[in-house]
Amino acid sequence: MYKIAVLPGDGIGAEIVPEAVKVLKLVGKKYGVSFQFQEGLVGGAAIDAVGVPLPDETLELCINSDAILLGAVGGPKWDNLPVHLRPEAASLLRLRKELDLYANLRFVKLYPSLVDSSPLKREIVEGTEILVIREATGGLYFGEKKRERKNGQEIAVDTLVYTTGEIERIGRLAFEMARKRPVKKVTSVDKHNVLESSRLWRDVMTRLGEEYPDVELEHMYVDNCAMQLIRDPRQFSVIVTENMFGDILTDEASMLTGSIGMLSSASIGGKVAMYEPAHGSAPDIAGKNIANPLATILSAAQMLRYSFNMEEAAQDVERAVVSVLDEGYGTADLKREGFKLVGTREMGDLVTNKVKGEEP
Ligand code: IPM
Ligand code: MG
Repeated sequence: MYKIAVLPGDGIGAEIVPEAVKVLKLVGKKYGVSFQFQEGLVGGAAIDAVGVPLPDETLELCINSDAILLGAVGGPKWDNLPVHLRPEAASLLRLRKELDLYANLRFVKLYPSLVDSSPLKREIVEGTEILVIREATGGLYFGEKKRERKNGQEIAVDTLVYTTGEIERIGRLAFEMARKRPVKKVTSVDKHNVLESSRLWRDVMTRLGEEYPDVELEHMYVDNCAMQLIRDPRQFSVIVTENMFGDILTDEASMLTGSIGMLSSASIGGKVAMYEPAHGSAPDIAGKNIANPLATILSAAQMLRYSFNMEEAAQDVERAVVSVLDEGYGTADLKREGFKLVGTREMGDLVTNKVKGEEP
């Protein structure tokens, strides 16, 4: 029996998470594994209900579960709260930190039937499959921050800190993951020409690279990487980078998959891993049954793979997604010529029926 903490959060989180739960329930039945789902409050929803974005009960629930499924947090309603209450920092980032989820894996995969949903040309994007490994508990996000007044000016400081240990563990993971891929190559992304933290990053990666002679290691500046992702995304296999660079590059890279609504993720490192779509709470489209649940469903597939060691079931879900897309279905963000527009729930049903083995 596996215990899954379910944290829908805000905006479209409340719509997409139930679709992934639907798929997981069916997988449980089909594979004879019992999943126990328990919901927790997180983000703005938690502020509204109990006054804080990450209630102790939710943190407890997460620590005592086997995996966490998270939707999204934040929205305009909570944007002007003091920083210790802002949903993003005080719930999502805190969860990553408390659970030691230092590696955020983001799966940038373009499914063949979505080639025409991508804003990029077919001959550039077709066949893209990149794993971005974003460091997620260090760097600019977690360094010391302050605001002060000096000579009539306000000064704001964010600090970018990395230790060898932090770089080593994420670097090692990148090499290990690259070893299992068809193209054994790691692109380590930094800003070595400007930042001291990047010079340490590159030193550590270079040293580690010697332990993995079977994996090609290349270093790339982050600005160049932003350009190369659009110019020739197929040159990449595994990208590993610091927290903020990874945040920015993965939103960019999501467009290679057709829509940010396709970008799934797994945050690993600690005892309990967390699975969430890489997109946000999209308040502008919330509550309309139009959000794409596939990034969340594909994140649930990664949960089956990484937390429960259910590779066959993970592939089952991924195949179901592929065949639904191949049949021409899509939520509004997956617009392409002649596609069949469906809503959030309908998309969830289509995938569930596929896993069940039923025709739509
Ligand atoms: C993401 C999000 C978060 C981040 C925000 C909501 C704090 O953009 O998961 O990429 O910056 O890490
Ligand atoms: Mg982001």
